[in-house]
Amino acid sequence: MVTGANRGIGKTIALAFLRAGWPVVALARTTQSLDALRQEAGGLSERLKVMACDLSDPAQLEGAAQALADAEPVPGVLVNNAGITVSAPLHKTSAEDLQRVLQVNTVAPYLLCRALIPRMADAGGGRVINIGSIASLKGIRYTSAYCASKHALLGMTRALAIEWGKKAVTVNAVCPGWTETDMFTRALEAVVHRTGRSPEQARDAVLASNPMGRPVQPEEVAALVLYLSSPAAAGLTGAALPVDCGEAA
Ligand SMILES: NC(=O)c1ccc[n+]([C@@H]2O[C@H](COP(=O)([O-])OP(=O)(O)OC[C@H]3O[C@@H](n4cnc5c(N)ncnc54)[C@H](OP(=O)(O)O)[C@@H]3O)[C@@H](O)[C@H]2O)c1
Repeated sequence: MVTGANRGIGKTIALAFLRAGWPVVALARTTQSLDALRQEAGGLSERLKVMACDLSDPAQLEGAAQALADAEPVPGVLVNNAGITVSAPLHKTSAEDLQRVLQVNTVAPYLLCRALIPRMADAGGGRVINIGSIASLKGIRYTSAYCASKHALLGMTRALAIEWGKKAVTVNAVCPGWTETDMFTRALEAVVHRTGRSPEQARDAVLASNPMGRPVQPEEVAALVLYLSSPAAAGLTGAALPVDCGEAA
């Protein structure tokens, strides 16, 4: 089960699972938005199921959680990937901005875990992979709401790993650095807009603290998610694994 599977990192993760032979439930705001995933999956889409849910809407989120609580068979892996950010200094970040970011990035993963983990445990085990960020590991200027949500996501990851370890449910966070998706493009556009720099200068500025000088590729994040879902990772839980070209080092 992958949330935010219609584009970016989530779509790449869903495709990677399909290509590795897994059945996938792809969650997105609308089922139409999953057409691109279905097309890229080609014949593999026989193993693809879709679920529509706007995670920022508490009623829809409750519906999705209930669907997971009732799903047969029980999904063995939950990837909480959907996420949003607000790029603004503190005084320009409203209470509504903070609530929206927390709802999608933290409350939604929490409630999906709450619906699914007990069922995974009853089924003999499972894997939860929360897509955090280097913003789970350190503060980043002008993203206080996002950093709050991603630090909270990591705290929840660690607590649930301890709580469900004896039931063979592992809970880990994958923490990407800047990754080449729409989110990265929008961040560069915001720097250009705010500072008047050229797109090249904005890219250099955003990647200034990245030792490898390049954004992470979505496939690199997906590979780590697949590893965490594999038998080899059965004993790995409560971890925050960076895939960040060394940015958090
Ligand atoms: N890209 C980066 O540099 C980077 C770095 C570190 C961590 N991350 C994390 O990686 C995850 C994926 O990011 P990305 O780069 O792939 O971002 P993206 O390209 O902006 O995609 C975000 C995904 O989340 C979905 N989503 C957002 N709000 C939603 C809602 N209310 N209900 C359901 N789905 C919703 C989007 O669906 P719609 O198409 O409907 O909006 C989309 O599928 C996020 O958790 C992000 O915080 C990204």
